[in-house]
Amino acid sequence: MGSNIKMNTERIKGDISILANIVDQDRPLYTRRPFTGEYLKSRKWLKEEMEKAGLTVSVDAASNLIGERKGSRPELPPIMIGSHTDSVVGGGRFDGIIGVLGGIEIARQLDEQDVRLEHTLLIVDFTAEEASEFGISTIGSRGMVGNLNKEILERVNHDGITLREGLEQLGGRPSELEKEKKKNGDISLYLELHIEQGPVLEQTGHELGAVTGIVGIRRYKVTCHGQANHAGTTPMNMRADALAAASEVILSIEYVANQSYSTQIVGTVGRLFVEPNASNVVPGKVVFDFELRSLESDVLDEAIENIGQSIDSIAVKRTLDITIEPLSVSDGIIINEDVVEGVFHSCQEVGSSLRLPSGAGHDANQIASIAPVGMVFVPSQNGVSHSSDEWTDYELVTKGIQALWNTLIYFDKQFK
Ligand code: GLV
Ligand code: MN
Ligand code: MN
Repeated sequence: MGSNIKMNTERIKGDISILANIVDQDRPLYTRRPFTGEYLKSRKWLKEEMEKAGLTVSVDAASNLIGERKGSRPELPPIMIGSHTDSVVGGGRFDGIIGVLGGIEIARQLDEQDVRLEHTLLIVDFTAEEASEFGISTIGSRGMVGNLNKEILERVNHDGITLREGLEQLGGRPSELEKEKKKNGDISLYLELHIEQGPVLEQTGHELGAVTGIVGIRRYKVTCHGQANHAGTTPMNMRADALAAASEVILSIEYVANQSYSTQIVGTVGRLFVEPNASNVVPGKVVFDFELRSLESDVLDEAIENIGQSIDSIAVKRTLDITIEPLSVSDGIIINEDVVEGVFHSCQEVGSSLRLPSGAGHDANQIASIAPVGMVFVPSQNGVSHSSDEWTDYELVTKGIQALWNTLIYFDKQFK
């Protein structure tokens, strides 16, 4: 299958450290939110590294940073390798980052070893993969495949900036999204290297994973409208306590996600705002987001219906209004078996490998609407991710890049 190329672990380690230092100094380590000064700075560095690797660099309408290396058969649609370099608040040094840096390392190796692929190769740093202030994730990959509508582009973040303006600040051209959007047949294959972000590879003693499917995610915004009032003078039976209502809704989400379904489901409330947020005031308003994830859309539909019913009965019982608004939808995907096998055997050449699904969402979910996708996982120490404790040994990151290289070389010959 692939040629056994020796990746440069020291160089990869150096790259990861450089990005780990371009972070928001006023927030917990290692925060690099999109549409911020740190993000722009890291983009500038990535662009320079792409150019040094011999790539021709551009920014597309959705503000994704793209490095291109021409193939020997320009009539073939390109193979794309991508991931993201934004983080959650207090996120890690590896999530998304090793996928982009791995792509750049592969471009360097192709350049240094003077290997000419048949397909043109695109290395992409997708804009804002993590859940954003605009209520959606995977902004850049959505934009690339025409899945960012007008309503989403006009959403405003806490700095009063619309998503449209945010994309422009990164060099994107939102007015050209429709014209530039990629369609079926425009990409031969999309590949992504990522940390597993869960415990399975480590606990089963595997060094690499070939991803078989990726969960879909539904996110909603819930607003509990109570009545702010004096915490000392308002009798318990005369309150419309928005936070007590929200607490009941949150426990009902946990309850619904804990039931058994044909496919596993998880549900989370990770962000909540209380007004006025004072210890001697009955809370008047609570706004929170919740998300549900599963590989199967039907299971998500069933769960959201159950949550809707609970919310209605909690609102009636507590005589206050609770509204629920959809924020984003992404469907789960099952990865094409031939691609899983190609990835799996490319991984096996490097280390012991396992086929497994992904509980995290990825840019691959979006690209799957126009092209076959494949993903390589490397283990996450103690299964920890979305935390500054996130860790994967550099030797394992290197093995992941080697597996990605093997996969690329294999499919370069296969996909015509
Ligand atoms: C992305 O990391 C996600 O799964 O939310
Ligand atoms: Mn990620
Ligand atoms: Mn993430």
